[in-house]
Amino acid sequence: MPAVARKQLPLRPAGPDTVAALLDWYDRERRDLPWRAKPGRKADPYKVWLSEIMLQQTTVKAVIPYFLKFLARWPNVKALAATDRDEVLAAWAGLGYYARARKLHECAQVVAGELGGKFPRRVEELIHLPGVGPYTAAAIAAIAFNEPATPVDGNVERVTARLFAVRQPLPHAKPELKRLAATLTPHDRPGDFAQAMMDLGATICSPKSPSCLVCPLQADCAAAAKGLESTLPAKLEKPDRPVRFGLAFLALREDGHVLLRRRPDAGLLGGMLEVPSTPWTDEAPSASGVVRAAPVRGSWWEVPGLVIHTFTHFRLELSVYRAIVPVDADLTFWAEPERCRWVHRRDLPDAALPSVMRKVIAHALRQQ
Ligand code: ADE
Ligand code: SF4
Repeated sequence: MPAVARKQLPLRPAGPDTVAALLDWYDRERRDLPWRAKPGRKADPYKVWLSEIMLQQTTVKAVIPYFLKFLARWPNVKALAATDRDEVLAAWAGLGYYARARKLHECAQVVAGELGGKFPRRVEELIHLPGVGPYTAAAIAAIAFNEPATPVDGNVERVTARLFAVRQPLPHAKPELKRLAATLTPHDRPGDFAQAMMDLGATICSPKSPSCLVCPLQADCAAAAKGLESTLPAKLEKPDRPVRFGLAFLALREDGHVLLRRRPDAGLLGGMLEVPSTPWTDEAPSASGVVRAAPVRGSWWEVPGLVIHTFTHFRLELSVYRAIVPVDADLTFWAEPERCRWVHRRDLPDAALPSVMRKVIAHALRQQ
């Protein structure tokens, strides 16, 4: 009979010894991230704030190049506050969730202005800043100022749910996970604790296949003891995303300019540029109305294929039309000319175009 390795149940729930093991691990294995202070050095609140805003809903890998670009262009909060909002939106293009970029700029102006260039250090003050919610306030307080606060992101939720074998599904379990994570937060190193939980979640305690055998917390982990490490945290099933449809029009002027339009500040992709399109609706549009819907008169040609883009709350399918138009082409009333501008093709890489619109343009210009 093969020997069956019996997993030992932890003798007591995760506590101070668990945290000590985690911090030891962090001191050896911490990731070298560009916003992170070197060991023993003070963190720069500007870097911590900027990175935490960027990291909401986005991965570390995607954020690093944007973070470095922002830091090179705007090395401190005063520099960022003094720049034009459009410059910030353009530099943010591709990171998604554009309200974050608008609020980032607003927040920089509050900090550089009213607050004299200094970020507040406590959660209760941080939370009043534009774009700073409970998570970000706790992250800045803990990481930048070593204040006792517990930022709980997806990584921290996962590690905590496993450590304590919390079976209640997300999102209902959020308050309980916050409470449990807070009970672990050590008074002397809250910032390192938060970052250690994030690093553990990103490397060892990964979503699909946690590496419990090399985990510094294994001896104290209730999920590992019960064989639940791959099933926790449980999640309520999400309903399928609805699909929306639209027609997008790429007008290419004979002198190499394309027609772009600024989206209203409120709402999805607020303040960003777009290729003019019909409203995005639940019903697939009929091709018969194309000429009427076009922003410029011209001979519109349907580019074969669709551009598909997934937003948080829906999936978008755009049919793309293209026309070459004369330099003196008049915009239709429908195009809302006051929001439109002609941008030369060579300037598109630096324009405030979100990823979905970059896809539309690439799709339209590929087929020449
Ligand atoms: N995710 C969000 N904030 C982070 C941080 N400070 N370090 C690593 N991953 C993170
Ligand atoms: Fe995660 Fe496994 Fe470590 Fe528990 S033992 S914290 S499940 S990696």
